[in-house]
Amino acid sequence: MPPQTYYIEPVEPVLKRFVEDFRNVVARAKGTPALLEELRGPTERLLYDPSWIGETFRKPVPGETATWAMYRSQDPDLCVFTMVVPPGERTKVHNHLTDGWVGCVQGEQLERLFKRVDDRSRPDYAELEVVVEERVSLGELTPLSYPDHDIHQVVTMSDQPSVSLHVLCNDLGTVERQMFEPDAHRVNNFVSGYTNVTGRSAIGR
Ligand SMILES: [Fe+2]
Repeated sequence: MPPQTYYIEPVEPVLKRFVEDFRNVVARAKGTPALLEELRGPTERLLYDPSWIGETFRKPVPGETATWAMYRSQDPDLCVFTMVVPPGERTKVHNHLTDGWVGCVQGEQLERLFKRVDDRSRPDYAELEVVVEERVSLGELTPLSYPDHDIHQVVTMSDQPSVSLHVLCNDLGTVERQMFEPDAHRVNNFVSGYTNVTGRSAIGR
């Protein structure tokens, strides 16, 4: 039986096609290092013309990072959501604990990618170094890969809210993961949820 799936309405044909492509990629490459690279093509097709991403999924929440879920698989091995960061705001430094792709569909972002350089022996302590800091513009994709390229921060550089589409190989909103305070070397656990999903414990945990 195919995995049960959860779409947030409206379900766009381009998203349905992507989920089918994803299933084919997983059937071929699950558990191998090739998975992330094989997902690049389907993700590029998803973002070739992002006009299918309507206002519902581009809405900013003042003073917050909004995450609008579009699709989550029950497994849970895939989620697709948008992240909306208002002008002048930034996300906390955070990880994802899986592989995936992030593509900019509105505005402009600065992305800081961090590398963890301590031995991870203390759960509440981390030493991070910035390894890449680059502007991400419309249509550009950046990979996230666990565990070495998995920690980042996004800053909105445009006057309009920045919107990025996230394709990740877990149900990110339900996963206990970490945010970091690099200067204080502090690590905090959190579960982000999704702005448009309540009762998140019903799926993926
Ligand atoms: Fe992120």
